[in-house]
Amino acid sequence: MKTILIKCGGSVIDQLSDDFFTSLKELKKSGYQLVFVHGGGPDINEMLKVMGVEPVFHNGLRKTTAETLNIVEMVLSGKTNRKLVQLLSKHGLSAVGINGTDDQLIQASIIDEENLGLVGNVQQVNSDLIHLLLEKDYIPVITPLGSTEDSKKLNINADYAAAAVAKSLNVEHCMFATDVEGIIIDGKVASLLEEDEVTHYIEEGQITGGMIPKVTSALAALDSGLKSVMIVSGKKAFYQDETLKGTQIVKKQEVIK
Ligand SMILES: Nc1ncnc2c1ncn2[C@@H]1O[C@H](COP(=O)(O)OP(=O)(O)OP(=O)(O)O)[C@@H](O)[C@H]1O
Ligand SMILES: [Mg+2]
Repeated sequence: MKTILIKCGGSVIDQLSDDFFTSLKELKKSGYQLVFVHGGGPDINEMLKVMGVEPVFHNGLRKTTAETLNIVEMVLSGKTNRKLVQLLSKHGLSAVGINGTDDQLIQASIIDEENLGLVGNVQQVNSDLIHLLLEKDYIPVITPLGSTEDSKKLNINADYAAAAVAKSLNVEHCMFATDVEGIIIDGKVASLLEEDEVTHYIEEGQITGGMIPKVTSALAALDSGLKSVMIVSGKKAFYQDETLKGTQIVKKQEVIK
C-alpha cells in the first residue's frame, strides 16, 4: 500500500479546517495510508512564557536546555499530540499518538551542543511500531523527540523528523501542512520550485524563518530518493480530484524532449 507522510505544523493545528480533513479522507479513499509527524511551536512558546523561559533560536532551530526539553516534551506529547489525535478521531480517522522515543523510533545524535544544546539530527528510524499500527489501519501520529544510543532524549525539529520518517517508509508523497498555502515568492504562491531556485530565494531573503527548515529537509528528502515533497495549507482542501495543491519542490524539472 502507498503511504503519505504529513507533517502537521504546530502553526496550523488550531486552525485545521474541515476541508483539510475531507482531503485526508479523499487520500484514504484513493488508497493511501497516512502517517503524521507534528510540530508545536506556538504551544511550546506559550508554555515557555508561562514558565518565564525566553525562546532562543539558532538558524531556525530551537536552542534546547535540559529545562526547555522537559517543557517541550510535556507540551508536545501531552498537549499538541493529543489535540491532533483527537481532531483526527473526531473526523472519523482512527489515530494513535506515539513519541519518537518509543521503541527507539527516532534514533538521533546531538548536532551542535554549544549553540543548540539538546537538539538532535536523525540518524536512523526504527519503523516497526509504525508498520504495526498501519497494518491495523491506525494513523500513527508521531511526536518529534529522539533518543541517543545511550538513551538520552533529544529535541528534533519536526520538519527534519518528518523527512527522515518519510524516507524510512519510502513514502509516495511527503507533505508539510502549514499556515500558508505554499511558498510565497514575489507575493504569489509558487506551484513548483527547483532546488536551485529554493537556494536562491533563501539567499535573497524571500524564504525565511520557519520555512527554511521545511525546504532544507524537503531537499534532503529528495536527495534520499523521495519522489515528491510539497508544502500545503492546513486551512484548506489540499487534495481534490486526485490532485495535490500547494508548492511542489523538485530537484530539477524533468526536461521533456
Ligand atoms: N517564502 C515564504 N513563503 C511562505 N511562508 C514563509 C516564507 N518564508 C517564511 N515563511 C514563514 O514560514 C512560516 C511557516 O513555518 P512555521 O515554522 O512558522 O510553521 P510550521 O512549521 O507549520 O509550524 P511548527 O514550526 O510549529 O511545526 C509561515 O507562516 C511564514 O511566516
Ligand atoms: Mg516550523
